[in-house]
Amino acid sequence: MLLGEAIAARHSVRKFLKEPISDEDIAYIIDNARLAPSWRNGQCWRFVVVRDPGKLKTLAQAVGQVNGWIDQVPALAVATADPGRSGGMNGIEYFIADVAMALQNAMLAATDIGLGMCFLANFDEVKVKHILSIPDNIRVVALSPIGRPEEGGGLKDKALKALFTRNRGRKLSLDQVLAMEVW
Ligand SMILES: Cc1cc2nc3c(=O)[nH]c(=O)nc-3n(C[C@H](O)[C@H](O)[C@H](O)COP(=O)(O)O)c2cc1C
Repeated sequence: MLLGEAIAARHSVRKFLKEPISDEDIAYIIDNARLAPSWRNGQCWRFVVVRDPGKLKTLAQAVGQVNGWIDQVPALAVATADPGRSGGMNGIEYFIADVAMALQNAMLAATDIGLGMCFLANFDEVKVKHILSIPDNIRVVALSPIGRPEEGGGLKDKALKALFTRNRGRKLSLDQVLAMEVW
């Protein structure tokens, strides 16, 4: 899949087939996350991927009601950061940007192999950390399911279709988000 196709086809997926996700697919997705840019190349991220149904059920109790479906997913990536390996400037903490960039890489890689993900921010960090034995100094930035979208195959066709409808769900047009030379 061409990068432009993957960018256009990527969308937040919240319903998945029961099909298990292989170690190889997880490795492909997280290896692409690993290649993202980061503050001073600090690579402050670590992804915990959960497939155990019991653990997924427990995690589902640690997210807001809106994300309660995560016990139904084949795999869940928990994206964490060590802020001590990232940095800050102008009052902005960049560990969040580091992990978000890595996650975007992951989501595009998943799309590339016909899988779907969804950035989830609505969770109780203390509970998630407790369930997964995440150390005190580590922050949980996001959760994301990984699975084959229930809407079925034809992602490539979908990508091509999406290229012709690039405004999908976007409130702002290119003109509104792009300024040249001055604000
Ligand atoms: C920072 C952030 C937090 C988000 N949190 C949630 C969430 O908790 N639950 C959810 O279902 N989607 C969540 N999303 C997904 C957005 O709703 C989604 O990206 C947006 O509606 C655009 O749709 P698309 O990803 O299909 O293009 C989040 C996305 C971002 C970037």
